[in-house]
Amino acid sequence: MCGIIGYVGEKSAPSILLDGLRRLEYRGYDSSGMAVLHDGVLEVRKCAGRIENLRKLVASSKIEGNTGISHTRWATHGEPTDSNAHPHFDQSGKLALVHNGVIENYQELRTELIELDHTFKSDTDSEVLAQLIGRYYAEEENSTSLAARLTDAIKKALSRVTGTYGIAIAHADIPGLIMGARLGSPLVLGLGENEHFLASDVSAMITHTREAIYLNDGDLVTIRKNAFEISALSGGKADYEISEVELAEDAAEIGDYPHYMLKEIHEQPQALRDAMRGRLSKEDATAMLGGLQMTSRELREVDRIILTGCGTASHAAMVGEYLLESLARIPTEVEISSEFRYRNIPTDKNTLQFVISQSGETLDSLAALREGKRKGCRVLGIVNGIASTIARESDGGVYMHAGIEIGVAATKTFTSQVTILTLLSLLLGRIRHLSTTDGLELIAELEKIPEKIRTILDGADRIKEVAQRFSATESMLFMGRQFNYPIALEAALKMKEISYIQASGHASGELKHGVIALVSKETPSVFIAPDDAVYEKNVSNIEEVKARKGPIIGITTEGKTGLERICDEVLYIPSAPPPLTPLLSIVPLQLLSYYIAAERGCDVDKPRNLAKSVTVE
Ligand code: G6P
Repeated sequence: MCGIIGYVGEKSAPSILLDGLRRLEYRGYDSSGMAVLHDGVLEVRKCAGRIENLRKLVASSKIEGNTGISHTRWATHGEPTDSNAHPHFDQSGKLALVHNGVIENYQELRTELIELDHTFKSDTDSEVLAQLIGRYYAEEENSTSLAARLTDAIKKALSRVTGTYGIAIAHADIPGLIMGARLGSPLVLGLGENEHFLASDVSAMITHTREAIYLNDGDLVTIRKNAFEISALSGGKADYEISEVELAEDAAEIGDYPHYMLKEIHEQPQALRDAMRGRLSKEDATAMLGGLQMTSRELREVDRIILTGCGTASHAAMVGEYLLESLARIPTEVEISSEFRYRNIPTDKNTLQFVISQSGETLDSLAALREGKRKGCRVLGIVNGIASTIARESDGGVYMHAGIEIGVAATKTFTSQVTILTLLSLLLGRIRHLSTTDGLELIAELEKIPEKIRTILDGADRIKEVAQRFSATESMLFMGRQFNYPIALEAALKMKEISYIQASGHASGELKHGVIALVSKETPSVFIAPDDAVYEKNVSNIEEVKARKGPIIGITTEGKTGLERICDEVLYIPSAPPPLTPLLSIVPLQLLSYYIAAERGCDVDKPRNLAKSVTVE
């Protein structure tokens, strides 16, 4: 995790770095810092807390310079304190480093360096890297230049490291130069006029340049004001291409909303339209997903699908499992990425794997992709992050086009992922048993979903009232069946992420197998019970909770009466065919968790201990 940005050019580095860090804050926000080179000295400012704290520090204790590196942290090794904040320095104090990733063998390297009289100022794994590079730099005396000496030192140090890294390094003796390298953590080079950038993500430099090079694992990069050089850490040349960045500069602006999460919940109608745009063919009653780069014949041969993802993406995958099985009749299984990478799931030549990821950078999902490819599977991505590592390493896939999502709790990207999985199910279904009329009906219903979401959003005040009633609770249960079982899981995840309420999601049918022991007057249960084939089954479960005096919030379909009698509160969603109800039922639950968290005074967009993009294991 963590976000890094480095700058070399003619402008004032501190303000560019601060602006970049603000845009990278979604990657971690427990401490931040920068080192800026001025007159042969690396001046450092760093502190615990949000980037706002760093801004105040830099404002009260000014630094100047046109070369600098900076970092926003999500703590892995060592508490979020001033001393553990990056940049970290080598023994000489002349080499500064910022790091995103984890150095797994840091203890062993640290012990070795301590035996060589190095002293450490932090508890981090990253400082070990700074000290190791510094040590090799001091030892390399025969290099042709200081830059060559630093290059050799970086290569030597990184060859000893086990783990992942995206790093940027500045040295007090080498003005106007930053070096970087990546393995498992993203790093992008931004090309400007008389300036260059190195960052974890293009959003950090979007106000300055539209030209970027997405570095690959094993790349070593050097940037100067007017030049850059990319080579392989293992020696020799590296392949790269210059990409045009499409991100809209104002996409990250909050507008009139109090939180990004609320804005993003409201952006869902548009996000879903964007996910569907140009991908529905009424003529053939199917979906067109050219990015899969597979012919109909190849798609027909698929006899098993594995969906991998983490967090919210894994819940979207679970909805996808129900969709693919019911609409396309293809055996599908979901495996969370962190398990998939260490399991040994048997696959055959007709197994198709999808990696679902908003960021396209989640390390476990990337590892799941690589494991699938290693096994010889075709691995496709369902990704929002354009040109992200997962997008680039997969054999093809579908971009979500949901736009930037800043709130740590994923909302619009969840419904966007489910929409794409619906398109995929339609496409695969039409290649198999789904008739033209079935296909056309699904398309017609799918096209109505954005407007139906709009009507739920229009009723947000009612959801807010319900939230106020339950905001003081300390535990909650969420239950649903079939297509809405994953929604129970996702709703519980939203609730715990942003309001810190103990919440868990369950299949309604499992209630009697243990969960019912948790039912009490103090623990509200939320039942997702739309008008579908299992409605009556849900009602029976609601009765079981009511009999034990558990407060109940029911989510059902407009026009369906009956829940009012047994639930304390009922929220309604517009009618839709059962496979499409998850796209609607999650919306009031996103709003419920949002309003409860806001009512409790929680930091909705930046919940404690979390980060949006998890690039460590
Ligand atoms: C983190 C975020 C979650 C997200 C998950 C997967 O845990 O806090 O909101 O669902 O990562 O992220 P991805 O970018 O791969 O979808």
